[in-house]
Formats: sequence, C-alpha cells, structure tokens
Amino acid sequence: MTNTEAIKKTAEFIKKRFTNDTTGHDWWHIYRVWRLAKHIAKKEKDADLLVVELAALLHDIADHKFHGGDFEIGAKEARKWLSSLDLEEDTIAHVEDIVRNVSFKSANIKPSLSTLEGRIVHDADKLDAIGAIGIARTFTFGGAHGRLVYDPDQPHLKDYTYERAHMQNTSAVHHFYEKLLHLKGRMYTKTGKKMAEHRHEYIENFLKEFYKEWDGEV
Ligand code: ADP
Ligand code: NI
Repeated sequence: MTNTEAIKKTAEFIKKRFTNDTTGHDWWHIYRVWRLAKHIAKKEKDADLLVVELAALLHDIADHKFHGGDFEIGAKEARKWLSSLDLEEDTIAHVEDIVRNVSFKSANIKPSLSTLEGRIVHDADKLDAIGAIGIARTFTFGGAHGRLVYDPDQPHLKDYTYERAHMQNTSAVHHFYEKLLHLKGRMYTKTGKKMAEHRHEYIENFLKEFYKEWDGEV
C-alpha cells in the first residue's frame, strides 16, 4: 500500500466513525487538525509526513474522558487500525506514541512529546482549541454537557485538574482559564507558536468584551 493510500483509507475510516460526534471531536475537528498539521509540517521541514498525517487523523480515535479515564485506550485503538494496513512497525509505534501523548490532561501536566512529528500534531490540535474555533467548540461542549455559559459565583480553579473540573461542572467561561489560556505557552514548534499568538490574542479580546457586556458597560 502506498503512503497516499494508507492516509486516504485512514481518513475515510475516521470520517465514518466521527461524523455524528458531539463531544467536540467531530470529523471536522479532525479534518482541521489534519490540515493544520500538514501546514506546520511544511513550514518546519524534515518531518515524516506519513507519521504526521496518520497521527493527526487518529489523535482523537478514543478519548480517555469517555472511557473511564483509560489513558491507553486511544493508543490501543490506533494500533488496532494501523495493523490492518500494510505499514512498517516503526511507523505504527511512532503514531501510537503520539496518540498516547497528545491529549490535554491538565494545566499541571505537560505532555511528553519528544519527536518533531508528535510536536507538530500536538500544536495543530491545540491551535484548534483556541481562536474563534476554540471559542465555538468550548460553548458547544458546554451546552452538550449541560454547563452554564458563565457563572461568576463559581470560583476559578487555580489548581485545575481534569478530574476536578469534570466533577465540579465548571462553566464554559471557566474553561478558558482551565485550559485555553494555557495553550499558547505550551506550543512546541516555531510555526505553532506564531499561530497561537494570534489566536490567543483573539480569545483575550473576546473575554474582555464578554465581561464588559456582562456588566452592561457596552
Ligand atoms: P483535545 O482535542 O484538545 O484533547 P478535549 O477533548 O479536551 O480536546 O476537548 C474537546 C473540545 O471541548 C475542546 O475545544 C475543548 O476546549 C472543549 N472542552 C473540553 N472540556 C471542556 C469544558 N469543561 N468546558 C467547555 N469546553 C470544554
Ligand atoms: Ni483533538
């Protein structure tokens, strides 16, 4: 099987699996991450594009949040799929490792992505959580999970962990402080950092406007 065929088959498989997803990982999230990852890979040079594209397509194949906190589930599912394609073990192991490490767990835990390919997919995924799209996804997720748009009586979780925020059902605006505003400082690649600057500024301005409107000032 050629690289192009393996990527095409993987895209078709994931598209089918995620078309009706409402957990924030719908096919179009995967599609945008795939596009962003290709864009970053071209700018950063020397990345193994097969690994980048397969990992981008498979990065959300199974989310620990919906599998009882099992952080291995994504890697397992990715390997299962990749084994059905005619690929080198090195490629499979590399993609599996990226899928295992790319997911955001908490503001206190930095992911350990040591390869250029892993860093590219990580940055692409995190870029899709900020900017205008990140804002849209946050409120969609909030609504789907019965969360308020904003609740000024809820304290901000300074020592945020995924478990605590999950338990405490924090509002969508709280999620900006739990996750989104941390992402700019976590980008690995030069291209990712630059793109994150722009998207970060956009969400900061959004929050400023939001509070002004909340207080009836504008
Ligand atoms: P990722 O693809 O980065 O691993 P997640 O699975 O953490 O993303 O989340 C999917 C989408 O839902 C993201 O846009 C994320 O910011 C948003 N989201 C996750 N948790 C919350 C929450 N508690 N409140 C609002 N939005 C959330
Ligand atoms: Ni993702």
